[in-house]
Amino acid sequence: MNHLLSIEELNADLLNEFVSSAVKLKAERGNPSSLPLLGQTWAMIFTKSSTRTRVSFEVGVRELGGSIMFLSSNDIQLGRGEPIKDTARVLGRMVHGCIIRTFAQQDVVDFSKYGNIPTINALTDDEHPCQILADLLTVKEKLGTWEGKKIVFIGDGDNNMSRSWIWAAKHLGFELVIAAPESCHPPIKFMDKVNADNVTLTSDPIVACKDADIINTDVWLSMGQEGQAEKEVLFGAYQVNSELLTHANEDHIVLHCLPAYRDKEITEEVLEKHADTIFQQAENRLHAQKAVLAKIAKV
Ligand code: CP
Ligand code: NVA
Repeated sequence: MNHLLSIEELNADLLNEFVSSAVKLKAERGNPSSLPLLGQTWAMIFTKSSTRTRVSFEVGVRELGGSIMFLSSNDIQLGRGEPIKDTARVLGRMVHGCIIRTFAQQDVVDFSKYGNIPTINALTDDEHPCQILADLLTVKEKLGTWEGKKIVFIGDGDNNMSRSWIWAAKHLGFELVIAAPESCHPPIKFMDKVNADNVTLTSDPIVACKDADIINTDVWLSMGQEGQAEKEVLFGAYQVNSELLTHANEDHIVLHCLPAYRDKEITEEVLEKHADTIFQQAENRLHAQKAVLAKIAKV
């Protein structure tokens, strides 16, 4: 495997391997047992904003012995219309790997094909695989395992986070409930393709949260959807607040991939109460992505 393009393409063994490797890399931070990116230069091409993903990859590549350059799409010819396949064929002859955050999943797929270098999806409209690996690591650290746990995703059921969680549930077999307004459920065609009995959809956030172990949310409007006021108003009943959490298991944890919009998808009170978990989840981006880099880098 030389790319991380989606959770869809992974399997249980690979997911477990990434999480175990991240645990090891986290434990040996500052005293690495190997430098798999020594002598390598990686590029990041971002056409959307980022704090966590950008910083964790910049730090992670360096900690693995490599160097990294950040390329905002506005600063390279891609932003002026040069096709992704040409960009890929140029970078593929110069750098050792590329990390891409953009809109269309197809662009990341095309880059991997034409660049012929390890390629990582750092978020597209379809998936956010790096985030899911960090989330699984956080679940493992906080609850010991995801096996037998009930995980709820509340908010936009048809965004990159919900889709990646759905694929993770398909591979790993835990119970996943997506609670979203009907018009924000993943399409039937997508659910048919996933074909997972352990993933259910509901429009009732209270039913979803009943006996839940992990309550997970994300922004109501993803990057690129800013200003869609008619969509945002659908989510009033889907706020993660202390009242909703009374329906969850007593020792539940709350996850948020961040950035968080307080008093929209999550209340200030809940976010601060669960800040220890949520910022551990953010830190885990670094460790999980180092596991990916170490696995897919060409030696
Ligand atoms: N969660 C996440 O991907 O954060 P950034 O958008 O800040 O990278
Ligand atoms: N669904 C969000 C995730 C942000 C990390 C977005 O795409 O904006």
